[in-house]
Amino acid sequence: MYKFYMAPSGERALQFLEFTIPDLILLDIKMPGMNGLEVINRLKQDSRWLEIPVIFLTALNDKIKEEHAFAMGAVDYIRKPISAGIVLKRIHLHIELQKYRKSLESLVEAKTYQLMKSQDTILEILANVTSYRDHATGFHIQRTTLITELIVNCLFETGYHQYRLNRNYADNIIKSAKIHDIGKVGISDSILLKPGRLTPEEFEEIKKHPVLGAKMIDDAMQELGDDSSFLFVAKELVYSHHEKWNGFGYPMGLEGDDIPLSGRIMAISDVYDALVSDRPYKKAFTHEEAIVMMKKDAGTHFDPYIMEMIDDILPEFEYVFSRSKEREFV
Ligand SMILES: [Fe+2]
Repeated sequence: MYKFYMAPSGERALQFLEFTIPDLILLDIKMPGMNGLEVINRLKQDSRWLEIPVIFLTALNDKIKEEHAFAMGAVDYIRKPISAGIVLKRIHLHIELQKYRKSLESLVEAKTYQLMKSQDTILEILANVTSYRDHATGFHIQRTTLITELIVNCLFETGYHQYRLNRNYADNIIKSAKIHDIGKVGISDSILLKPGRLTPEEFEEIKKHPVLGAKMIDDAMQELGDDSSFLFVAKELVYSHHEKWNGFGYPMGLEGDDIPLSGRIMAISDVYDALVSDRPYKKAFTHEEAIVMMKKDAGTHFDPYIMEMIDDILPEFEYVFSRSKEREFV
């Protein structure tokens, strides 16, 4: 049993829809005022009405109009004279189909949410694996991720046209920042945990971590048969976060825009955190000292355009760092 409302014209039908959203609309083509095709056009432009199934019920025997109606999103086209029984069956069918489609959509939504949660958890575990190997990097990962997020969001709001930075890419960069040093799990403890300055040979070993990390992600991609945008971005960021704008970085010696945007951003947060942190071979620089040094390196180490664009948010780096330091000693 259905409740049925009738409107004498297209205009009145649209007014009615302002207050009530029906399960289905039966629409004629020839009507006083707006015709049926004009009405469906309005329905499909409004997100409140877009998904209501529309069945055309018309005396017009016109193939072109029928094709046009389907092209505009009608789910069915019934010619008069009608058989009430058949019309009722088709109404029932389309309402059931719509319910089925909606339940499938919410199922897909729930599964996608679940998948994203598992991906985030695995990411957290991988980030922890890196930090457990080297205690100094635990808070380094937290801080660099937060600083990367600041930079990405700043670029997204101000410079995304220049960098073709859409929201999905931006979010994937932020997520990938957590595992930027994942390749360090492949470096021996005697080098990774050495309490002093590294020899040139040991430094060459450390320099392998971007390649090792990218290989781990690439292996996972092959194994899973998954080249999703997240894994792709994670791989490029891990591989390129030690490249330098002038081509003197590693592992590839890429130059300028050839360095993926994710790597150019990660380089900034990574170096800032290293400068303001104590290391076995150096004392921490102050925020002000670090910023002076980094600005000097814009155009040699760092992308000078990004450095210019994030100038206003540089003081926020210090805030992130000091908040993390507070937690570190709790
Ligand atoms: Fe690194």
